[in-house]
Amino acid sequence: MQELAERVAVITGAASGIGRGIAEAAAAKQMRLVLADIEPKTLDAAADALRAAGAEVAAVPTDVSDAGAVTRLGEAALDHFGAVHLVCNNAGVLVAGSLWENSLDELRWSVDVNLWGVIHGIRTFVPILLEQGGEGHIVNTASMAGLTAAPYLDIYNATKHAVVALSETLHKELAMLESGVGVSVVCPGLIQTRIMESARNQPGTGDRDPDARTLSEGGNFITGFLSAGIDDGWPPSRVADAIFDAVAAQRFYVIPAQEPVKAGLYQRLDELREERNPALPGIFSEPS
Ligand code: NAI
Repeated sequence: MQELAERVAVITGAASGIGRGIAEAAAAKQMRLVLADIEPKTLDAAADALRAAGAEVAAVPTDVSDAGAVTRLGEAALDHFGAVHLVCNNAGVLVAGSLWENSLDELRWSVDVNLWGVIHGIRTFVPILLEQGGEGHIVNTASMAGLTAAPYLDIYNATKHAVVALSETLHKELAMLESGVGVSVVCPGLIQTRIMESARNQPGTGDRDPDARTLSEGGNFITGFLSAGIDDGWPPSRVADAIFDAVAAQRFYVIPAQEPVKAGLYQRLDELREERNPALPGIFSEPS
């Protein structure tokens, strides 16, 4: 999709981090915006800032894990702007740790937001885009954790692999339909956002300090590793720019990731090709 001005972008998880970066880049391209997030106050602040910069914005508080809420988001987008062209299923949360040390609530919440959130987005917006006809594009935010499997990120890896798989399936299906609706999956590396504070949005935890969680040595290791990498990571605008390049070029894979992070993917591809057992990616054993 090359022509973006005046077209409508729906972005989930738009109040912070990568979602907000996508919203800012979309506004710079004169797109009209439907911003969705579970945090009403930060959502309103993001919407106000974008309006002040001249964008047309509808802010729709939405919990993407709730099918009905995502259906209502689709209705709100059509009510406000009459059409939808770009849909970014971006909202996500990160829970660190091994399956047996995470609580069932944490595991279910991760799947509800990271996987069901994207499923609800696809089930709501693909029929809208198909019925509308013409050009459209779906962008699903996965992660490098959807292409590699770092230790102590068990449920996060599983949900992000699932997002890559369903995005790839969708891409093939929409291409076979010759629909004019493109699909991209975004697999960022380490990006400066609030993802390590995901627990702020876990139902039933209030404003719990995410550092107060009791984890094993491994869970603490990956939390420390990711926190340091994310503090030092690329700005969300870099991911947003990569997304818009891919939308214009109809490219499926978008991998805005640091080379040492990407090396883990190349290692895995070699392991698969040679049927070798998976080894710890170098980034975890080398001083950064
Ligand atoms: P963030 O925490 O800064 O932003 C996530 C946004 O999603 C927040 O505004 C939050 O309120 C919202 N959100 C959380 N649960 C929600 C729900 N149930 N319904 C609607 N909105 C909800 O984090 P970030 O990093 O911007 O996360 C965006 C996506 O990027 C996620 O899918 C994450 O897994 C992915 N990602 C992030 C990377 C990073 O290094 N920051 C790397 C790879 C992927």
